Amino acid sequence: MKNTFKHNYKISRKDREDLHKHNSSLVWFTGLSGSGKSTLANLLEQELYSLKLSTFVLDGDNIRQGLNRDLNFSNSDRSENIRRISEVAKLLIEAGVLTIAAFVSPFKKDRDMVKNIVGSDNFIEVYINASLEECEKRDTKGLYKKARLGEIKNMTGISSPYEAPENPTLEINTNKETIDESMQKIKKCILEKLKYGKLHN
Ligand code: ADX
Repeated sequence: MKNTFKHNYKISRKDREDLHKHNSSLVWFTGLSGSGKSTLANLLEQELYSLKLSTFVLDGDNIRQGLNRDLNFSNSDRSENIRRISEVAKLLIEAGVLTIAAFVSPFKKDRDMVKNIVGSDNFIEVYINASLEECEKRDTKGLYKKARLGEIKNMTGISSPYEAPENPTLEINTNKETIDESMQKIKKCILEKLKYGKLHN
């Protein structure tokens, strides 16, 4: 950016990771509304916290009430939502925090952007797969019903597309697995990727 100058700070990401005794990374949950992203993020964070990992969850519903309250669900606003979150996640990774993001993030190009912004080494993509039928049956927030009645525009799965990841790090099927089974799978995958216990004792 013109007329701005990068300052180099003496304390590095590595220093902060050493302080926290684990590496930082971004675990990105993508999936339909009602697929179980927030529920799993919540359980997973509790589990990681009990292992004394430094964590933070970025959740679409919450972020859209604050930082991204000016954005709607058009394709371009969804992209901007994901871009801002990627930059926030990048900062949290620099802060040495294991970051979990739970966003519908329906477009492949936007998820590719996340990977580019934070760096592919820092990006763990978890596809929380549940069929539209199942999500609609759950309809915990009543949004699908409203979308069917035409009261909500651009509802993912109904009037706006969801592009499933083709090659996620991990795919979870919440139609078939219990929430605890799903959480354990994700936990195992993350701890392996984080080299937990290997880099630091
Ligand atoms: S994203 O597409 O931009 O990634 P995000 O994850 O931030 O979406 O927000 C999705 C949440 O907003 C859903 O969990 C749901 O509660 C709510 N929501 C409201 N309207 C819509 C809509 N049209 N499509 C999808 N989710 C919606």
